[in-house]
Amino acid sequence: MNIILLGPPGAGKGTQAERLVADRGMVQLSTGDMLRAEKNAGTDLGNRIKAVMDAGELVSDEIVSSLIDENLARLDAGQGVIFDGYPRTAAQAGTLDGILARHDRKLDYVIELEVDEDALVERIVGRYTCAKCGAGYHDKFKQPKVAGTCDVCGSHDFKRRADDNEETVRTRMAEYRAKTEPIIPIYDARGILRRVDGMADIEDVSVAIAAILDGK
Ligand code: AP5
Ligand code: MG
Ligand code: ZN
Repeated sequence: MNIILLGPPGAGKGTQAERLVADRGMVQLSTGDMLRAEKNAGTDLGNRIKAVMDAGELVSDEIVSSLIDENLARLDAGQGVIFDGYPRTAAQAGTLDGILARHDRKLDYVIELEVDEDALVERIVGRYTCAKCGAGYHDKFKQPKVAGTCDVCGSHDFKRRADDNEETVRTRMAEYRAKTEPIIPIYDARGILRRVDGMADIEDVSVAIAAILDGK
């Protein structure tokens, strides 16, 4: 099973991908995570993309598509994939078709998380992750069971993203509306688009996604 999670910044793509990985053994391919890893490692690529990411603009189609291609090549044929934050432009959607064909994979569903933009800023400015294992949390919506301790690995170290401030979030949303939203009809026309209410509780969103994947 190969799926795309689509939605604006803060829609819950990463949160739901993390659950699918835990529940179904799928593999999450997040271009945002890959790009942040390059940025933090200070590679040539990381230094080139830092300003673009920190401004909330999109990195070039060539860079993200080659990251996806490389990461997909490392997987076993039987491992299901969740594309998180990719594709984000019509050009990327076209490239993904070619990449999937070359890797003998087919796209089963594109799941759009429908959200109310006004709520997203609150989600994003309250977000943080475990610095050690990457588990995601939120100041209000998803606190660790024991305050200051990661549920997954027990670490006490947490971090926040450089682009998680209100001004950059507005730019990221504008990029989504201008460049990513227009690709939704492509998948709708293929009959693989499914819409989920992303404003529901995290658990309810997971249940709705599971029902789609299980064909219920
Ligand atoms: P990326 O990392 O993909 O960021 P994004 O699309 O802006 O999305 P987010 O990660 O902010 O949101 P999410 O939907 O994952 O939300 P989350 O689950 O964390 O991209 C970052 C940058 O990299 C881009 O701006 C661009 O520069 C570059 N980039 C990446 N991919 C690219 C591409 N393909 N092409 C070009 N450039 C690219 O949830 C947010 C918070 O809300 C969390 O704290 C969570 O706990 C909480 N939450 C989640 N669901 C719920 C819920 N149902 N109710 C209440 N709270 C919830
Ligand atoms: Mg994310
Ligand atoms: Zn952790």
